[in-house]
Amino acid sequence: MTTILVTGGTGYIGSHTVTALIQNGYEVVIVDNLYNSSKAVLNRIETITGIMPKFYEMDILDRDGLDRVFAENSIDAVIHFAGYKAVGESVEKPLVYYENNISGSVNLYQAMAKAGCKTLVFSSSATVYGDPEKCPITEDSKVGGTTNPYGTSKLMNEHILEDVCVSDPDWSVMLLRYFNPIGAHTSGLLGEVPNGIPNNLVPYIARVANGTLEFLRVFGNDYPTPDGTGVRDYIHVMDLADGHIGAVRYAMEHKGVEHVNLGTGRGYSVLDVLHAYEKACGKQLPYRILERRPGDIAECYADPSKALRLFGWKARYDIDEMCRDSWNFTLQNPDGIK
Ligand code: NAD
Ligand code: UD1
Repeated sequence: MTTILVTGGTGYIGSHTVTALIQNGYEVVIVDNLYNSSKAVLNRIETITGIMPKFYEMDILDRDGLDRVFAENSIDAVIHFAGYKAVGESVEKPLVYYENNISGSVNLYQAMAKAGCKTLVFSSSATVYGDPEKCPITEDSKVGGTTNPYGTSKLMNEHILEDVCVSDPDWSVMLLRYFNPIGAHTSGLLGEVPNGIPNNLVPYIARVANGTLEFLRVFGNDYPTPDGTGVRDYIHVMDLADGHIGAVRYAMEHKGVEHVNLGTGRGYSVLDVLHAYEKACGKQLPYRILERRPGDIAECYADPSKALRLFGWKARYDIDEMCRDSWNFTLQNPDGIK
């Protein structure tokens, strides 16, 4: 059986990916320090799949701990989700972000090299494109111009891993550039549980829908987009999870580094998403137009054809299904995953 180490496996995208891996016949070992997730996620994964994955409550900054994980398990490949992801916080605490997202990742890559496990799927982000010159964005578009330490840490990881592949042709690395992951597991058992007031659009709308927040603040309606509000490529987290199955399979059969967009290829405006969510929850949701949010771009959507060409992946869920599953998760888990 093929064994995959998943760092950050109890987190939002990680938990969906672990579920998909198990359902595709992989054995999974999770390393997570539970900084932004709960151990109860493991029970939810077991409920969905019938299998409890092996779990290490461990920080990826713990080098000896990582060596032990590789010594105790025969790991064939790693999917690396663990990291901090709050853009605003990363501006306030750059060293904390660089320590976790860079030092922690380098620790992991060193432990992998030492154990002779050189197959890796890395969680990158469309943020590496900065303000894109054109949409849809292809993987050969210019990268750089990131506006915050979080985004810069993603780009630095890409560069580090490109260098690793140059130095040692035995490595296989997939740099997956996610667009905007939203939605939840169709069972309602897994989903995103943001800490405090959400920064991202859909978790915020979900709280307006359940009455915890009064209205949606729409950040600007004077962008050069069809309705003036920002356009993004929202992708269902279940589709994203499936993308990792394709990517890990591909990586196990091909050496070298590949940069791959994971998006649907369709852009939706803030108001489009709000209206889709209104359909999902069956009520009108109040909003107010505010100033633009600093650092935001007008539009960002993927050309996802490389993922289709390399490993036969394309997104299946539409925006209505993404909002339906987000709302279902919100209703079923008023106190998060406990
Ligand atoms: P998440 O916070 O839900 O999951 C990350 C997990 O990593 C959490 O369970 C957390 O406890 C764990 N973790 C953090 N630091 C750790 C450490 N030092 N040691 C061990 N575990 C640690 O985030 P997510 O939304 O599932 O994102 C997963 C990855 O995808 C992240 O690297 C993120 O930057 C990237 N990404 C996310 C998005 C998004 O919109 N959610 C978009 C692009 C890229
Ligand atoms: C943000 C991050 C990006 C990160 C991604 C993860 C910034 C500048 N970028 O992307 O680095 O990879 O999250 O998902 O923070 N909006 C509102 N009201 C809200 C929240 C958002 O109008 O309360 C609008 C935004 O202006 C934007 C769209 O909704 O047009 C999507 O915003 P968001 O969900 O925060 O994602 P991004 O900004 O695309």
